[in-house]
Amino acid sequence: MEAVHQVMTSGWITQGPKVRELEAGFARLCGTRHAVATNTGTAALQVALLALGIGPGDEVITTPLSCIASANPICFQGARPVFADVDPETYNLDAREVEKRITPRTKAVLPVHLFGHPVDLDPLLHVASQHALPVIEDASQATGALYKGRRVGGFGRVGCFSLYANKIVTSGEGGVVVTADTDLADRMMAIRNFGQLPGQHFLHAYLGGNYKMMDLSATIGCVQLGKIDAYIERRRLNVAALNAALSELGGLIQQVPSERPYARAVYFGYHMLFRTASLRQRAEAALHAAGVETRPFFSLITDQAPYLALGFDPAETPVAADLASRGLYVSNSPDLTAEDRTLVVETLTGVARTLGVA
Ligand SMILES: Cc1ncc(COP(=O)(O)O)c(C=O)c1O
Repeated sequence: MEAVHQVMTSGWITQGPKVRELEAGFARLCGTRHAVATNTGTAALQVALLALGIGPGDEVITTPLSCIASANPICFQGARPVFADVDPETYNLDAREVEKRITPRTKAVLPVHLFGHPVDLDPLLHVASQHALPVIEDASQATGALYKGRRVGGFGRVGCFSLYANKIVTSGEGGVVVTADTDLADRMMAIRNFGQLPGQHFLHAYLGGNYKMMDLSATIGCVQLGKIDAYIERRRLNVAALNAALSELGGLIQQVPSERPYARAVYFGYHMLFRTASLRQRAEAALHAAGVETRPFFSLITDQAPYLALGFDPAETPVAADLASRGLYVSNSPDLTAEDRTLVVETLTGVARTLGVA
């Protein structure tokens, strides 16, 4: 509250010193030279695609299992998303599936660190570099996650973050793009401000929009960023407690959150893969009846109306389609209490017992 009050009385409501402070903080976090703040994570992806010159006729390979905002900016550019299938254990893009889909029209690869678990980046970066393709990391759910000891977002040509209210670090609404590439950073700074060159009023070098973050949001983001390690620790403790308590329910739940050896995840949500779609439905109904909010494993993007209209077929990525039908997640907020966790565990235990799968 104090930080917000300071901004309100500083004379800088929109983009100003707090935005620069937040950008410096993200650049430090990711070990990149630059960071460019935007008003949403969707805008961060859009600005990155614009700056990379991706447009009509181009293809961008991405995952079908994510928030639809990962793919929509590709369509906004008049380019075509090409969906590759995912790994059944991490739910993230599989580099071998990506390689199969590369064509002369491919202009970028856009992996998503789903649920805050890092994509296995080395094989993906290898495939991309063999074809001279930039990698756009969508780290919206993974602020602070580590891949082989380094924060995600800093591996690709650009890394994009969302600072929406439910994210690891929030500014209410907001986004950030990080990059080591100075030219690209300059372009993105201009593109977020109508393509106007910094300090040169009404001189527009690029086609840009208004993607600027407000200082009012940035000040919240700065406070949050200062607490990132504590937030992540609390999320990790929730997961450890829930995993232990649900370990007896193998007949109901096939897979709970875990980490590959290369990863330190930040666990955006507590996700559960049920043995069958109908078990998922029973669990979902019971959790709702107990007052616990649930979400599916995001969207199977190819199964959403705008993508069906564009001719995409969900059956082309069978692993993602299967995961989407059996997955569910509940909140893994750092504010979750022991009682909140107990309610989830008791409700699911009740379902397993009723169905005789405990
Ligand atoms: C993976 C992913 N990408 C992009 C976005 C879009 O971010 P925003 O809501 O800040 O536009 C989100 C979530 O909101 C997301 O989860």
